[in-house]
Amino acid sequence: MDQLDQLITEAQRAFSAAPDVNALEQAKARFLGKSGSVTELLKGLGKLDADARRTAGAEINRVKSAIEAALETRRDALRDAQLQAQLAAEALDVTLPGRGLRQGGIHPVNRTLERVETLFRSIGFEVADGPEIETDWHNFTALNTPDNHPARSMHDTFYLEGASEVLLRTHTSPVQIRTMQAHAAKYAGGAMPELRIIAPGRVYRVDSDATHSPMFHQVEGLWIGEQISFAGLKGVVIDFLQRFFETDEMQVRFRPSFFPFTEPSAEIDFAFMSGPNKGRWLEIAGCGMVHPKVLANGGIDADRYTGFAFGMGLDRLTMLRYGVNDLRLFFDNDVRFLRQFND
Ligand code: DAH
Repeated sequence: MDQLDQLITEAQRAFSAAPDVNALEQAKARFLGKSGSVTELLKGLGKLDADARRTAGAEINRVKSAIEAALETRRDALRDAQLQAQLAAEALDVTLPGRGLRQGGIHPVNRTLERVETLFRSIGFEVADGPEIETDWHNFTALNTPDNHPARSMHDTFYLEGASEVLLRTHTSPVQIRTMQAHAAKYAGGAMPELRIIAPGRVYRVDSDATHSPMFHQVEGLWIGEQISFAGLKGVVIDFLQRFFETDEMQVRFRPSFFPFTEPSAEIDFAFMSGPNKGRWLEIAGCGMVHPKVLANGGIDADRYTGFAFGMGLDRLTMLRYGVNDLRLFFDNDVRFLRQFND
């Protein structure tokens, strides 16, 4: 029976030497396969007589069981090693901090917008709105800029294809006409309370460089009543700028200018008196006393009421407040830029 025990040892060696599951299956075939050593021994039993067959059969079965057990042991060991290798290869460092989900933030221009709204609401202005796709009449004609008026060439307008009467508004001033009309209609025949609105929003012009974008933001202001003066306009604008920039270290200049919808008209120039941008003048708004024809187009009695209006560049205010020198950064959507306003 030495020979049989040797077979067991041989199988154990062969199994231990198998480096992986495939090699193990091949080694198994050598002993337990169709023509493997153990199978051959079993085949030989038929030649023995009954007694010898029983003894030999028992012995061979013992060997077979031992070899099967060795096979099982090696199989488990290989599977275990494979699992360990996989675990090591796919190891996760659970102590690494999570990546998390960054919260979105408010765009710097919208921050300005919210601030402008808060400041004007605090002095009794309401916030009005108007369409970005506007009629030629509201955008130009009603604002005292008839066809062929040279002032139309001041704006490079985006017209809508096949609809010459419809355009992308070039400024927020058409909201003046819409709110005056609504206000006049509401109080028709009775005493008209003062109209005090700002109208922020997107406007469009065919223009693009470091300080101009084809889409930009303005805020329109309008105050109509019986005692409204240019002095009031200056007071409101200067007070707003001081509160907006949280300093009175500034110079504000009302430079005579021309707009068809105001008379007299001025442009508002602004410069800080301290800080990194000290002494750099920037034009931030147009303004003036509302032209009587514009009041009439809004349905308001120009003999009884006067008003002032202004149109300010929201992007310019944002650039000044945060020291940004290229307007296009606001619209590139580079999160590295935008994040700086939200940390
Ligand atoms: N709408 C003018 C523009 O976009 C700005 C402006 C000037 C608005 C004078 C006004 C105003 O309300 O009174 O160039």
